[in-house]
This record gives sequence, C-alpha cells and structure tokens, in this order.
Amino acid sequence: MINDFVFNKIKKVEGISEWRSPSNIALIKYWGKKENQIPLNSSLSITLSKCFTQTKLTYRPKINNEQDFIFLFEEAENISFEPKLSQFFKRIEKYCPYLNYLQLKIESRNSFPHSSGIASSASSYSALALCIMDIEKKINPQLDDKFFLKKASFLARLGSGSASRSVIGSFSIWGKSKHFEKSTDLFAIKYSDQIHETFSDICDTVLIVDKNKKEVSSTVGHKLMDNHPFSFNRLIQAENNMGSLKNALKNGNYDSFIELVELEALTLHAMMLTSKPYFILMKPNTLEIINLIWNYRKKNLSKVCFTLDAGANIHLLYPKREFIKIQEFIKNELSIFCDSNRFINDKIGNGPFKL
Ligand code: DP6
Repeated sequence: MINDFVFNKIKKVEGISEWRSPSNIALIKYWGKKENQIPLNSSLSITLSKCFTQTKLTYRPKINNEQDFIFLFEEAENISFEPKLSQFFKRIEKYCPYLNYLQLKIESRNSFPHSSGIASSASSYSALALCIMDIEKKINPQLDDKFFLKKASFLARLGSGSASRSVIGSFSIWGKSKHFEKSTDLFAIKYSDQIHETFSDICDTVLIVDKNKKEVSSTVGHKLMDNHPFSFNRLIQAENNMGSLKNALKNGNYDSFIELVELEALTLHAMMLTSKPYFILMKPNTLEIINLIWNYRKKNLSKVCFTLDAGANIHLLYPKREFIKIQEFIKNELSIFCDSNRFINDKIGNGPFKL
C-alpha cells in the first residue's frame, strides 16, 4: 500500500500553488510513535476555522546546485524552521522524487499571532503537502481528487503526525483503530460514521495561558513514550476511548463526550508527568481555569469542557447555543488567567482550501 504513494515521473514544471489549511485539535490524543511517523495509537480530531496557515509555493526547474528550498515565514527568512523542513523533504523524497529537480520558494503565514503558544506544525505541514500535491497534479493531470487528498495527508504526516488530520476537514481519524474499518496509520481519513447534530457547531475558544514556546517539544515527548511504564495501558485506553467517543458522537451524548475529551487531555499530561525524565507543560493558570470550568459547568448545567494540546493553553469546547453565556464567563472569570487577557474564538471548520 505504501508503494502506491511513490510517483516516479520527473518533469521540469513551474508554477505557483497556494493553500490555506486549518489547525486541528485532537479529542483523542496521538502521543507516542514508531519509526517513520507511525503513531502508537489512533487519534480523532476536529479542524478549526480561524486558526490556519496560508502557504504559497513557487516552483521552477532547479539551476545547477541551487538550494532545494527557500523558506519565508511572515515575509522574513527564518532559519529555525529549516532543520524540520529539511527532514520533511528527506522523508518524502522517495514518494516525490520530482522535487529533486525543482527549486521551491515557500512563503508561509499564520492567522494566529506568532507568539501565542498555538502549535502551527499541523496547519503548516498540511498546507505545504497540499501545495506539493499541486505540483504532482501538474505532472500527472489524471490524478484523482480522492488520491490527491490521501497522498497530501500521507505527506503531511511525514512532516508532523497531527498534520495528517488537518488535511481532512472537520472530524478526522488518523491511526489504525478496530472501531473504524478504513482507518490506517499512513494517513488520516474523514470521519464517516454518524455524528449527532448536537456536535455540528462545536465552538473552540483558545485561552492563551502561555505564549512562550514550550520547554519540551512534542517530538521529544513522543519519544518518552517508548519506555514509558504506563504506555501499554495507555494504548488500550486510547483504543477504548475511540470506541466510546464513536458512541457518544452517534448518540449525541454530550456528557459522555465531555468525560472522554477531558480524560484524554488529562491523560496526555499524566503521561508527561510520569515519563522519565518527567516534565510539566501545564501552568498554575491552566489549573485555575480547569477548576473554574468544572465549577461553571456544575452551577449552570452547561456543556462546556476543555482539552489541552502539548502546552499550557486551554481549548474551551462548547455548543454554539452557549456562545453568549460562555463569552461572559470568559470575560468575567477566565481571561484574567490568560496572558495579556488573550483568547481566540474559533469553531469547527471544513478543512483546507485552495486559493
Ligand atoms: C499532543 O504532531 O506535533 O498535539 O509528529 O512529532 O510532529 P510530531 O508531533 P505532533 O504531536 C501532536 C501531539 C498532540 C496530540 C495530537 O494532536 O493528537
């Protein structure tokens, strides 16, 4: 199956491609991986709407020993991204050998503020992979739309695991799970089981607790799952949670959804707290906010809940019908625990699109 993604035709093409890809937030978390970006467990996420990366890729035949790529982030050269990008191009070389004959200029920008602590690798590798697939489509115009997205997700995964899910809009699954027949470790698929309408308009307000770069990268964190004392049980739990979330989504069971989503977020951080070496990415204000969410939910019979990335920021999830009340709650009680009172109101979105 993996060989389906090898495309050996070489053609010296030129052009420009531009894609906008959203960030995503996992409800069931990917934490731990094997060689070649194969996840230890399957994950399930929703793509966002306002938090996105926009990438423009300009390509033309390479002249002699020119540099493979030039990368501009928000209009300026930024060498801090280069090692990961070089690694990405090395990983995808086998599948896209035509890139060796091209010079690429990658211009990228994020909709969310640079120093907001919001991870951008998912949206940026998703956008870049989609641009690369436009080159492949130029070489091979017969390439069908389904395969286009499948390979884009496959390539995005090789840049950053969670990026595979950003390629596929709204609810998506990456990683083999017995609960989803078509799921695979190689790329993300669209969630095609029934989803109750109560989950059709999930809002996600990102509460910026800490805008700084996290002290331990996800890549290092994943690695610590290799010899983790609880890894075996975590993998069983993740698989069970995939099944339980599938039921909750189908039945419109918001309470079960809340329980699973918060359990997943806290388990992710529990893995960090108990790895060797152990580390903590939550901040005191993260915990202040979690407690306030729990109190508010109880007092107001609300369906608000939280999830966490590998960082201190909180993703506040709630149905749209609670939007006005939750905005009051944020302004009155939560924003004081945010860095410069900052938060970003986002919601579930439909995935990437070409500009
Ligand atoms: C905690 O996708 O950033 O956000 O594959 O090393 O780039 P790499 O890791 P990355 O890990 C994301 C982990 C997570 C959970 C998730 O998004 O599923």
